[in-house]
Amino acid sequence: EDTNRIRSSLLEWYDKNQRDLPWRRRTTKSGNGKNVKKEEEEDDEKRAYGVWVSEVMLQQTRVQTVIDYYKRWMQKWPTLQHLAQASLEEVNEMWAGLGYYRRARFLLEGAKMIVARGSEFPNTVSTLRKVPGIGDYTAGAIASIAFKEVVPVVDGNVVRVLARLKAISANPKDKTTVKNFWKLAAQLVDPSRPGDFNQSLMELGATLCTPLNPSCSSCPVSSQCCALYNSKNDESVVVTRY
Ligand code: ADE
Repeated sequence: EDTNRIRSSLLEWYDKNQRDLPWRRRTTKSGNGKNVKKEEEEDDEKRAYGVWVSEVMLQQTRVQTVIDYYKRWMQKWPTLQHLAQASLEEVNEMWAGLGYYRRARFLLEGAKMIVARGSEFPNTVSTLRKVPGIGDYTAGAIASIAFKEVVPVVDGNVVRVLARLKAISANPKDKTTVKNFWKLAAQLVDPSRPGDFNQSLMELGATLCTPLNPSCSSCPVSSQCCALYNSKNDESVVVTRY
């Protein structure tokens, strides 16, 4: 029904329109049959590290700026094990210009903690939340994108997209409002492709469902969008509030 239509429309749009970003590239598998399982696990952990670094960088910084920082970071510390050997000075130097240096320190502390405990990357939201600096957002992003856990991810873009889709007008700064959006996102997330689904919502908010002048005519879910429907009677709904 409605939920399935929204899922398939968003995923189809994302498959065609997602931006080519360095942290979205998957390392290729050798595929010689024997060690596929182990390789896949290593691949997931490598991906988790990249998703972690990129999502932390993206928290207060635009995608275009993050790309170069991300590439430099991954050249210097290609794996979690490399990062765990770094000093705080090196990490801060690499972070210079991104601001909020606490985030860089948490990355370093988190890497040290995971490596000290045997290097197995936490692969669920509940275990990820125990790592210093990993909150609901980052835990959801890593678990869904790298490990396919069926969990939602909600950031400012997702709040705006869902608020419009369901025509929810509530104060987005209010804590209970944000909780309700996590619940709504949890009901919506596609169980077969949670990471892509979550990224499709973020991507839609970043590219078409923008705060001002959203590009509803190009939107894959415009026919299901309650705010757009309402706006045909009341123009203010789409543009204001979120
Ligand atoms: N903004 C932050 N993380 C993102 C992601 N994974 N995809 C699209 N936009 C994002």
